[in-house]
Amino acid sequence: MKVFYTKVALNTYLDTHKKNKQIGFIPTMGALHEGHVSLLKKCNEENDISVVSIFVNPTQFDNPADLLKYPKTFQDDTKILESAQCDVLFAPDVKEIYAENITATSFDFDGLEQEMEGRFRTGHFDGVGTVVKRLFEIVAPNKAYFGEKDFQQLQIVRKMAEKNHLPVAVVGCSTFREDDGLAMSSRNKRLTDDERNAASIIYKILKKTAEKIQTHSIDDIKKWVSNEFKKHSFFELEYFVIAEEETLENATILSPKKQYRAFIAVYANTIRLIDNISLTY
Ligand code: PAF
Repeated sequence: MKVFYTKVALNTYLDTHKKNKQIGFIPTMGALHEGHVSLLKKCNEENDISVVSIFVNPTQFDNPADLLKYPKTFQDDTKILESAQCDVLFAPDVKEIYAENITATSFDFDGLEQEMEGRFRTGHFDGVGTVVKRLFEIVAPNKAYFGEKDFQQLQIVRKMAEKNHLPVAVVGCSTFREDDGLAMSSRNKRLTDDERNAASIIYKILKKTAEKIQTHSIDDIKKWVSNEFKKHSFFELEYFVIAEEETLENATILSPKKQYRAFIAVYANTIRLIDNISLTY
């Protein structure tokens, strides 16, 4: 695996190696786990050169304490990438991406940014849009891979690429889960044993929602979800939303012509976890 820290070094390498080759790209913030490896597997299958970036993007953290706390596991990450057959790792520092101006561009994502995470994490998606646009411009991939766990981010990246006419296909990949269904996330490591065991309830509730949607109203399901989390003292539900996939607008009744998902954001004491599931009915 080649490792580059600067745009110039990365581009010099890609310019000489990418002729007639398909480049696949996975942007990450490090703290890699099996979920990232599953993206890389798909990327390797569909491309000639796989590029992964590790960059903890300061402009997407609304809370500076979260940025400081973000796990930095570069040595372990490089080992994981090596054994998962990554071709190129791009690991720039903040100056390389932002020069002296560490601010996010303001984007119009046609309202996608107003929903769910957007209500609770001010400026987060402008930060994501800013860094992903810059990384797409630097790496110039044919395809880029994002996990469906962060479904709102996936839709926002698609919108950003479309609005900026970036010639990249944004590929959504199924959420990779632990054996008990908990979506893989770097945050899972910060859960206590009790929190970790109880956290499997999130996916159980989502799966039950996918069943209940056949026979129950959205209002009834919302009440049921809220009560389920109240049974555990350390969970605090931030939101449970059933939304249309394209617009992410909150649904109150379902139209058979549209595709929907159920989304959860919940605190297990201090750790915020998110997950979602596709609904077919
Ligand atoms: O999902 C992430 O890890 C980040 O939001 C991303 C897409 C790498 C942008 O910093």
